[in-house]
Amino acid sequence: MTKKEAQKKIQDLRSELADANDKYYRLGHSPMSDEDFDRKVKELSALEATHPEYAAAESPTVAVGSDLSEGFRKVEHKYPMLSIQNTYSEEELEDWNRQVTEKIDPAELEYVVELKIDGVAMSLVYEDRKLACAVTRGDGTVGDEVTRNVRNIESIPHRLPASFPAGRVEVRGEIYMTRQNFKTFNEYALLTYGKEQQNPRNTAAGSLKLKDPKESALRKLDFYAYAILVDKQEGTHWENLEALEKAGFPVNDKRAKVRTVAGIMEVCAGWLEIRDGLPYNIDGAVVKVNDLRHQAILGRTSKSPKWVIAYKYKTEAVETVLESVTYQVGRTGAVTPVAHLKPILLGGTIVKRATLHNFDEINRLGLKLKDHVIVEKGGEIIPKVVSVVESKRPKDAADIEPPANCPVCGSDLSRVEEEVALRCDNLQCPAQVTRSILHFVARPAMNIEHIGPALVESLLKDGLIKSVADLYFLKQEQLETLERMAEKSAANVIESIRESKIRGLDRLIQGFGIRFIGKTSSTMLARHFKTLDALRAATQEELLAIHEIGDRMAESIFKFFRNPLTDALIARLAEAGVSMEYQAAEGSDELAGKTFVLTGTLPTWSREEAKEIIEKAGGKTTDSVSKKTSFLLAGEAAGSKLEKANKLGVPVLSEEDLKKMLGLA
Ligand code: IVH
Repeated sequence: MTKKEAQKKIQDLRSELADANDKYYRLGHSPMSDEDFDRKVKELSALEATHPEYAAAESPTVAVGSDLSEGFRKVEHKYPMLSIQNTYSEEELEDWNRQVTEKIDPAELEYVVELKIDGVAMSLVYEDRKLACAVTRGDGTVGDEVTRNVRNIESIPHRLPASFPAGRVEVRGEIYMTRQNFKTFNEYALLTYGKEQQNPRNTAAGSLKLKDPKESALRKLDFYAYAILVDKQEGTHWENLEALEKAGFPVNDKRAKVRTVAGIMEVCAGWLEIRDGLPYNIDGAVVKVNDLRHQAILGRTSKSPKWVIAYKYKTEAVETVLESVTYQVGRTGAVTPVAHLKPILLGGTIVKRATLHNFDEINRLGLKLKDHVIVEKGGEIIPKVVSVVESKRPKDAADIEPPANCPVCGSDLSRVEEEVALRCDNLQCPAQVTRSILHFVARPAMNIEHIGPALVESLLKDGLIKSVADLYFLKQEQLETLERMAEKSAANVIESIRESKIRGLDRLIQGFGIRFIGKTSSTMLARHFKTLDALRAATQEELLAIHEIGDRMAESIFKFFRNPLTDALIARLAEAGVSMEYQAAEGSDELAGKTFVLTGTLPTWSREEAKEIIEKAGGKTTDSVSKKTSFLLAGEAAGSKLEKANKLGVPVLSEEDLKKMLGLA
């Protein structure tokens, strides 16, 4: 390579990496896999080493990527938040081990191997044992303050025990979202925002940067602590992990002490086996020198400490052929493409289908039918097509045309500006009807236990129902005519439909599946308007006056109630005797005989709201904690009442716990 070529290559790599970094940290998605990113950093690093005249302080090989966003208070890190060196091979681990043993006597050397959780790095600053500040990595020197959102993460202690020194203590760790919570959140996101998130890590990162802590609290985040930073570092990393665990921090139990690269490899191989069964995503293992004095001796470069290295697992990718593309219609009418692949083994399962997200993705990939494609199962649960092997494109590869009509009902599709999705606007489209009925009967809505997807399909197929209202007019004899429906199960179905009539306004609103309106907003609307008639009559201004309701929501609610189909639906539901009033457990006795004391700031309810909810469910609230108190409902910055409750053994509930008790969550 000539000097000129090298200079050009360095420039190209730098701009490509800077772009990827920017997209990853600011926009939450990356145009390339982690592996490609790391490979390109290494290539650039090698070029910079042979051409030191082109070195630059802002090169991605020496600078940490930045997650800084506008609108957040900037906090300087007392100890910089550095990156870690990455490797994908045993040889590179050997190299690293050699560098370490040049400075540390192998007889004294010990490594700790931990899981590398695929989340977001977080610095928690405790002052006098109280959580004072939570800061993102930012650019490594300065981060964004996200304390309000972090306080809602249940696994993060707000206080440290007396075994910790007073003054400043910093705890670092990883904020992440479990796969299950990601799945649940994505179902909710699809229903309320009409859009799914890319993966748990990006969802966690995005949640931390939400301006409204109530919104952020809806997305269940978790935390694993992996470091304590104080001015006088003593002892070992392992001891620090144990101290964190004692203090009530979640610390991952998968950790091992080893002394050799062979030992590291053995642990990593074992974890690779269990990787798919873990409830959260990992992208490898982190190896750390255990003795904190050794860490100090080894020191750091501008970008990363020399006492730690990540051993990353390769993302499994396979090549197969795109056989066809079909389209799915969601409950809100969003039409999304699905890739049908020549079946292939990937990560232990046979993959036949992959998501393509939306039509823009097809264009971005330059995808054609019959193309050879690379499919990956990364952090996502469903595999995805990541690239096209253009060199193998067959002559008869055909363009994929966006559908003009709904694949289910044939209506014209529309494309709303600023939304990438194609949409079927026919509210009577069978695909939408099926999904909206399932939404109506689901647990957070009318909770009609004995109705599931198979039954809804057959009811629609046999013409027994056309909309949710028809459910209330079904007769047991009609159900008994259905295949595999015995007398007893038919009776159960009828009974569970009947029981659902009294669920109340909040669940009915949730059941309607109005775009952008989820569980919490449904409850808020019901509590505010009390009757469906009052809600129907509300103007957009009146809706907007409710704290939780934003522009998009107000518009969506208003439109929903101006639709003649909605009028017809409501009339039928009323005829069936479905309750359209807010009865929030009025007359209910779920909390009868229970006395509550409230303390601290709750994530989404005000004090008054919490009191009202408890009283409506038959409970009582008092001001001070005594042996007679049934529960302490505690929020952020709970003080002496919490201490007293703990002393008296009074159970402490979070808002979430209470919501669960009342079936609100
Ligand atoms: S130690 C300076 N331990 O991986 C060393 N990091 O790619 C500090 N990560 O920024 C990091 N699990 O966000 C460490 N057990 C673990 C980890 C871990 C995940 C993240 C962390 C870091 C990133 C580097």
